Amino acid sequence: MSTREACLGLDRDDPLRSCRDRFIIPEGTIYLDGNSLGVLPRGVAERLATTVKDEWAHSLITSWNDHSWFDLPRRIGDRLAKLIGAPAGTVVACDTISINVFKLLGAALRLRPDRRIVLSDTGNFPTDLYMAQGLIDFLGQSHRLKLVEPEDVEDAITEEIAVVLLTEVDYRTSRLHDMKALTRKAHDRGALVIWDLAHSAGALPVNLEGCEADFAVGCTYKYLNGGPGAPAFLYVRKDLQDRIVSPLFGWWSHARPFAFDLDYRPAEGIIRQQCGTQAILAMAALDAALDVWDDVDMHEVRAKSLAQSELFITRVETLCGKHGVKLVGPRDMTRRGSHVSFTCPQGYAVMQALIADKVIGDFRAPDMIRFGLTPLYTRFVDVWDAAGRLHAILEERGWNRPEWLEQKAVT
Ligand SMILES: Cc1ncc(COP(=O)(O)O)c(C=O)c1O
Repeated sequence: MSTREACLGLDRDDPLRSCRDRFIIPEGTIYLDGNSLGVLPRGVAERLATTVKDEWAHSLITSWNDHSWFDLPRRIGDRLAKLIGAPAGTVVACDTISINVFKLLGAALRLRPDRRIVLSDTGNFPTDLYMAQGLIDFLGQSHRLKLVEPEDVEDAITEEIAVVLLTEVDYRTSRLHDMKALTRKAHDRGALVIWDLAHSAGALPVNLEGCEADFAVGCTYKYLNGGPGAPAFLYVRKDLQDRIVSPLFGWWSHARPFAFDLDYRPAEGIIRQQCGTQAILAMAALDAALDVWDDVDMHEVRAKSLAQSELFITRVETLCGKHGVKLVGPRDMTRRGSHVSFTCPQGYAVMQALIADKVIGDFRAPDMIRFGLTPLYTRFVDVWDAAGRLHAILEERGWNRPEWLEQKAVT
């Protein structure tokens, strides 16, 4: 792709072109951070208003039944299932990724009582590792968390491993693990796998059923546009659902929550993994946000994401390589997720300058600038222009301002 006009041509021919109108995107902004917080889909604000003004204000507590609030997490779970290759009844929207990792890891370890090692990699997102460390500490049964480099995971799956805990797409490098191969290897060695789909769901086709995955977790505030702090989800393969119990015996996972028994008895099926009362306003927002996916083919999303990644990488390397900007992660596009990171001298300040110039990405310590490509609303011309503006900032040292050198709380 050698010209801006060619990018405009690609946008005209894009089979996903009409999807952009389903979102509210500030005029003049090139938003390349949908891998962190997705943009606002049309219809979400209206749905929230209905939930608040009609259902909550007027129907009050009868809404749990009359507006089906109570089973919203399960119904949303079925909608999410379609996006991650899972059958109905295997996904529930609930809690946060962190809490869901704790619940599923706790449950999985009990299925492997003779093994003591949780295997993960150094590219995993810290909260997954922290939750594993916290659970291990809490259990006090001499489990340990073993970390290896991402490329060494396959070899490290041995008969000593109880659970493999992996994020499919690395939040920094974008490296994509081979879910099918690693799950098969884990099963061959008698281990279970928990997949974190934070950077996969809505970013690329996922086939949990086809990979015979045991467990998965994911969030909905990134590529699924559920809003800040939107509910997470979890997946449990059908045959495992009634063989595990969550370590958090919340009443929403009880077989008869409104019997108010004094003793815990887990429900059957995926709702066994719920805990307590869910944030219904956030669930309503997420439910409306998912409407944008109703007719979307994930293979088209993937094809566009890879084409945009290739365009962005080539153009940034060509224009900005001389300023020390270097690609992080695989060069083979098929081994990448849908975001692109580069190491960049003064990366934090460069990103602040870029944001001031209305190209929004983010910064990941120690030295990476990161850009999310979200094919439902990112255009080829955005990708072209973003690289051009990055180049201009580097050429003109536009990042060199004292206020951009000091890091804010959220980077
Ligand atoms: C791979 C991964 N897991 C987990 C999280 C965050 O988990 P939580 O939703 O519990 O904050 C993130 C956040 O970006 C992430 O990238």
